Amino acid sequence: MTASFKKDEQMITSPSQATRIGAMTTPSKNWQQRLHQLDQQLSATAELWRPQPFKQQRPAWCQSYPQLTQALLDLDDQQLQRFSHNPDALVEWIGHYLPQVAQLDALSRLPKRTPTEYSSPENRFFNGMPGRKRTQIEAFASHVGSVTSPILEWCGGKGHLGRLLGMAGDQPVTTLELNPELCRAGEQQAQRFGLYQSFTEVDLLQPGLELNVTDHHGVALHACGELHRSLQRRAVTHGMAALDIVPCCYAFGVEQQYQPRTQGLSLQLSRDDLRLAVTETVTAGQAEVTSRDREMAWKLGFVELRNRIVENQAYRTMKPVQKQWLKLSFSQFCQQLADREALSLPADTDWAEVEAFGWQRFSEVMRLSLLRNCFRRPIELWLILDLVTDLEAHDYQIELGTFCDRAVTPRNIMLSARKRVESRASSSEIHRAVNSGI
Ligand SMILES: C[S@@+](CC[C@H](N)C(=O)[O-])C[C@H]1O[C@@H](n2cnc3c(N)ncnc32)[C@H](O)[C@@H]1O
Repeated sequence: MTASFKKDEQMITSPSQATRIGAMTTPSKNWQQRLHQLDQQLSATAELWRPQPFKQQRPAWCQSYPQLTQALLDLDDQQLQRFSHNPDALVEWIGHYLPQVAQLDALSRLPKRTPTEYSSPENRFFNGMPGRKRTQIEAFASHVGSVTSPILEWCGGKGHLGRLLGMAGDQPVTTLELNPELCRAGEQQAQRFGLYQSFTEVDLLQPGLELNVTDHHGVALHACGELHRSLQRRAVTHGMAALDIVPCCYAFGVEQQYQPRTQGLSLQLSRDDLRLAVTETVTAGQAEVTSRDREMAWKLGFVELRNRIVENQAYRTMKPVQKQWLKLSFSQFCQQLADREALSLPADTDWAEVEAFGWQRFSEVMRLSLLRNCFRRPIELWLILDLVTDLEAHDYQIELGTFCDRAVTPRNIMLSARKRVESRASSSEIHRAVNSGI
C-alpha cells in the first residue's frame, strides 16, 4: 500500500525520513526523562487521540487532516484488518501523514528483556491450564531471575504463577486472591505437588488492610489497574525487597481522573483515556469479534434512531447491553434499549435502513479509530513509567521491557524492581523500630 501526501498536513516527505525520526530519538533507559518526553508529546497531540469516533461522527482532527481522513475512510476491509492487527504497520503508514505519531512510537519502544536460566517442569504440572496462560507464566518466570525473599503473589487467581516460582526456587509462596473458589482450587494443586504455597482470601483494595510485605518479593501477572498500583504503593511505603509486575486494565479502580505519582506531569488521563490503552483484541476468538462488531454497529444504529427522535443530539453514554440482546433481531434489540431509556420508537421505522446506517457508521468508526490506536502504547508506557519513576525515587533498580510476544498477550510489558541492598537494610530497621514501638 502506498501513501499519498499533501503539503497542508505537516507530513514528512518519504518513509525513510520517518524511519530516521525514529532512529534519531532512540529512547534511552533514563525512564524519568522518557516519561517527561512522553508527557509532553501526548499532551501536545491530545486532540488526535482523545475524541472517540464512536461518539463523534467526525472528530475535529478530520478537518485539520482531510487527506489522512480520506485515506482512512478509503481503506478496504483487508487493509483495515491488517492495520488493526499490526500496530507497527499502522504507525508506519500513519507516520507518513503525521510525524508526531512516528516520534511517539519511537519513544514508546521498549527492549525485549533477556530471559534468565529457566527449565520447564514436566507437562503434568500444567494440567488443566489454558495454553496461553502456560506460555505467559513460563515467560514471566523466566524473567524473574534469582528469588531471595519469600514470594507474595498478588491477585494470583489459582496461583499458577506462584506455584511455578515455588517449584523453581526454594522460597515459600503466599498467594493473595479475592475469590475463595480460586484459592481452594489453587490449594489443591499446591498439595498435589507438595509445595509450600499458602493461599489467603483477601480483598486487596479494602481500606486499612494490614499486610506484612516488608522484605517480600511481590509478583503480579495481570493484576488490574488499582490492584497492581496498590502493590507498587506498598512496595515503596513498606520497603519490599523486589517486585515483578505485568500490568493490565489500567482503568480499573479509577473513578474519574488518574492521579499520577510523579510531580510535574501535565497529562490528565480520564477513565476513558485509560481504557484506550487496553482496547486491543489480539486474543479474541472469531465468535467474540463477530459479537463485538454487531454490538457496536447495532448501538450506532440505535444512537441514530434516538437522534432522530430526541432533540438534544449530544452523545449520551450508554450502559452496557446484555449479551442475549445481540441474539435478537435488530428491531428487538433497539426496543430493549428504548424500553430502558423510556423512549417510544416510531411505528413506521424502516429497520433495514437504520441497521444499514449503523453498519456504515461502524465501518467508519473502525477506520477513523485507527488513528487513536497509534496512541495506545504511548499512554500505556506513560502509566507504567509513572510507577517506575516513583520506584526509582525510593531506591529501586529497574528493569523494564517486553517479556513475551504481543500475540501471547498485548499486555506484555514487565516491570521489575529490586531494592538496593543498602537501603533494604535501613528500611528493615525502620520497620523493626516501628513494629517494636520505638
Ligand atoms: C486477570 S486475573 C489474573 C489472575 C492471575 N494473576 C493470572 O494471571 O492468572 C485478576 C485476579 O484478580 C483477582 N482480584 C480482583 N479483585 C481483587 C481484589 N480486590 N483483591 C484481591 N484479588 C482480586 C480476581 O479474582 C482475579 O483472580
